[in-house]
Amino acid sequence: MSQQFDVVVIGGGPGGYVAAIRASQLGFKVACIDEWKNAAGGPAPGGTCTNVGCIPSKALLQSSEHYEQANHHFAEHGITVKGLGLDVGTMIGRKDTVVKQNNDGILYLFKKNKIAFFHGRGSFVKAVEGGYEIQVAGASEETLVGKQIIIATGSNARALPGTPFDEVNVLSNDGALRLGAVPKKLGLIGSGVIGLEMGSVWRRLGAEVTILEGLPTFLGAVDEQIAKEAKKAFDKQGLKIELGVKVGEIKTSKKGVSVAYTNAKGEAIDLEVDKLIVSIGRVPNTIGLNTEAVGLQLDERGAIVVDADCKTNLPGVWAVGDVVRGPMLAHKAEEEGVAVAERIAGQHGHVNFNTIPWVIYTSPEIAWVGRTEQQLKADGVAYKAGTFPFLANGRARALGDTTGMVKFLADATTDEILGVHIVGPMASELIAEAVVAMEFKASAEDIARICHAHPSLSEATKEAALAVDKRTLNF
Ligand code: FAD
Ligand code: NAI
Repeated sequence: MSQQFDVVVIGGGPGGYVAAIRASQLGFKVACIDEWKNAAGGPAPGGTCTNVGCIPSKALLQSSEHYEQANHHFAEHGITVKGLGLDVGTMIGRKDTVVKQNNDGILYLFKKNKIAFFHGRGSFVKAVEGGYEIQVAGASEETLVGKQIIIATGSNARALPGTPFDEVNVLSNDGALRLGAVPKKLGLIGSGVIGLEMGSVWRRLGAEVTILEGLPTFLGAVDEQIAKEAKKAFDKQGLKIELGVKVGEIKTSKKGVSVAYTNAKGEAIDLEVDKLIVSIGRVPNTIGLNTEAVGLQLDERGAIVVDADCKTNLPGVWAVGDVVRGPMLAHKAEEEGVAVAERIAGQHGHVNFNTIPWVIYTSPEIAWVGRTEQQLKADGVAYKAGTFPFLANGRARALGDTTGMVKFLADATTDEILGVHIVGPMASELIAEAVVAMEFKASAEDIARICHAHPSLSEATKEAALAVDKRTLNF
């Protein structure tokens, strides 16, 4: 006998588990199926984000930043550290504890919201009267019928053609987050978000890091001025980033990995490293879903085809998060999950793609929302720009971190904020104010007139807004 549900969610990452919670809040009988296993084989909901993405990477970024501070920056505060040591095992163990706290938190949320959780792989069997039959295989073996199906099966790391991940020498984000020791030499392919975050972790811990990037531009999606400032800081830290390279043959041996590549000048180079992280993007994951059984449409990238409302080509089947178009970000997946649950309930779920913030958690952090200066130029929009450096911010001086700036871009006529770009301390937190402002269609003048606490980094945001009208007070 199959179990009947109003909504069956396949995938328990940020897109799936949040959709399940919202659907339950709206009064539906909900099931969520997730196949991720912890080291003991038990359930570990939370997806890529919780297990091998956002959460563990931020845990290691924090630990490695503490080490970097103790190693290089405590002295300027008059704090002497003698016999500083590094226990990678403990650091990785702490990261694993943080991950487990999040897995357990999600299991608790399932209980609290009366969501039936099934640990195993969900796949389509067939369309039935008023819904779809879904088979669960794994620890839970069940047949479910859902009137509505939400697919949130996420993404997997993209491998270089001919070089599969062995997670010993050639690492995806998974292996990169559980190295047992600091490699003497670490290579990374791709200077995108993962390349920069993971490269930063292992550089801070003592690895000699080389990042090989195929494109000639550094962080092409980031505002050029901000990317330039970030690159200056990374160069100073000793993060070696080579742009415009063509990666050739990759050979692994007991000694490590050898990467043949051609640099921007056309010179052939062999890079010998102990470990290689490949971070060249991610591919949507529909493995095992048995999409053919119901005729679910995929695009040429393997992503599930959806419309603006996350509706697939099948009635009553929705898809959200990394498995569909749009940025591969946890908060984008969550917003889509909530919106879909609300649409199923007949409400008007809404996701504003123009105000999705991006954050790169390096040091300095990079965060932005809205359009870059180069995009505004390409779109032919008349704009005004205002910047304010953290060098002139009292709180940044007190913190001892004055790298970077806040930059506002506002419409030349209406003064509406079109983009805010930050490189510097706590950019990840500061960007929230800009997101709120843009969501409410604020002008730069609005932010400039709002009282900001002193001394705080957020004063740099206010000052950058004042700079749009060329009237900064402290610079
Ligand atoms: P996922 O999180 O991938 O979850 C999908 C879940 O579905 C998984 O648990 C999977 O096991 C399960 N599943 C798949 N198929 C089936 C099936 N057939 N049956 C049952 N279960 C199935 N984003 C940010 O916003 N901020 C960050 O700081 C950030 N850091 C990141 C760091 C790294 C190293 C990586 C790799 C990614 C990072 N991301 C970050 C991206 C973020 O992790 C993803 O955008 C997010 O996890 C996508 O959520 P999702 O729910 O779509 O998919
Ligand atoms: P990415 O798309 O950010 O960067 C990939 C980089 O690899 C690009 O610069 C690309 O030009 C380069 N590249 C591609 N093929 C190459 C090749 N053959 N040789 C050399 N360079 C090559 O992808 P990444 O870093 O793998 O991360 C995947 C996604 O995960 C991100 O796009 C983001 O959505 C998400 N993520 C988000 C984080 C955050 O929000 N802080 C942190 C980490 C990941």
